[in-house]
Amino acid sequence: MSAEFIGLLTAILGLLAAIITLRALTGKKKDDVARITPPEDQETRALIERTIWERKAPRRPAIYESSRPPILVVANMKGGVGKTTITANLGAFLSSAPNNEKVLLIDFDYQGSLSQTVLGQAGITDVSMSAHHLLLGRKATEDALNFAPPMRFRDRDSGQTRLFRATYPFATVENEIFVEWLTVPDHEVRYNLLRYLDSADFKSAYEVAIIDCPPRITTATINALSAASHLLIPTQADGLSIPGAEYFSRQLMRMREEAFPALKLLGVVPSITLVATGLKKIEEDELAELESKLREIWPAAARSAGEIVMESAFVPRSQPIRDAAGKGIAYLRDAKAKQIFARVGAEVLPRLQ
Ligand SMILES: Nc1ncnc2c1ncn2[C@@H]1O[C@H](COP(=O)(O)OP(=O)(O)OP(=O)(O)O)[C@@H](O)[C@H]1O
Ligand SMILES: [Mg+2]
Repeated sequence: MSAEFIGLLTAILGLLAAIITLRALTGKKKDDVARITPPEDQETRALIERTIWERKAPRRPAIYESSRPPILVVANMKGGVGKTTITANLGAFLSSAPNNEKVLLIDFDYQGSLSQTVLGQAGITDVSMSAHHLLLGRKATEDALNFAPPMRFRDRDSGQTRLFRATYPFATVENEIFVEWLTVPDHEVRYNLLRYLDSADFKSAYEVAIIDCPPRITTATINALSAASHLLIPTQADGLSIPGAEYFSRQLMRMREEAFPALKLLGVVPSITLVATGLKKIEEDELAELESKLREIWPAAARSAGEIVMESAFVPRSQPIRDAAGKGIAYLRDAKAKQIFARVGAEVLPRLQ
């Protein structure tokens, strides 16, 4: 056998081996992919749709009366969609003349962005009182509510707005309460905030409360939803954000009847939209799809009258709004931002009644 022939034979055998290995690998990969991303079988669906907050409430406080001041919770499982920005600016809108409402702001996000923004605007650096007392539920109502310090944003302000701040240790308190919920049978933790906000002390001291939530269904989020009369969902009008609002809604509707039957969806506010003058066609299309999905999820009795997606309450991307974050409230610092949030507030306010 010549050396050339042996070389050729080796090359052919090598090629065959490579083809066999490749086919084996391709086949294995297909199997793996099928195993890693299985179709949504029953087990998977049960895992995805389950919520750890579903439980009968043998001792749900007998509340939910219409004489309570409106309590607005701003929430969405999607992060970075403008929840905190909208909370801070709506708060400023409501507490400014001519409304001049007595506003209670509650920061229920351990990131503390709302606290930083509002305290920055009021020029306050040191506040020891934290929102975790509202979550723990151990203080007497009067003591807890009186602790919220007044925020004087301008010299002539009489301090109509008060804030319960959050800082990172808030997360530890949440975890402790969550463990109690999981491990102590019949131990109810979902209505701790509600007890405070259903009190005569709250009703006599405030005309409205706004609660800022983290981008997750946490112990605090559940408390906020259980205490609130209305839910506002901010979302960006893009393909990344829309599924978050939809999934969040589905999760809430699983729990609503048992945990917070009085909660109404006030609406969805399109946030950080592309241009100042209105929604772009591409945004309108995304939002139209969201509108029809949310109409399937939220029954008419569980939402405010009118369109779910409040297109005319859009909040455009704007530099002054971005610049104010963490330092102050754009509504109180910039004329354009004031116009934007006055328009949003005018849409939101009638739905809160
Ligand atoms: N209309 C806007 N124009 C420009 N920037 C904005 C606008 N709204 C929010 N932002 C910026 O986007 C970022 C996220 O906003 P914000 O903190 O309000 O979102 P969030 O939903 O509360 O986030 P998280 O889920 O982390 O709590 C911030 O840097 C904020 O300044
Ligand atoms: Mg936030």
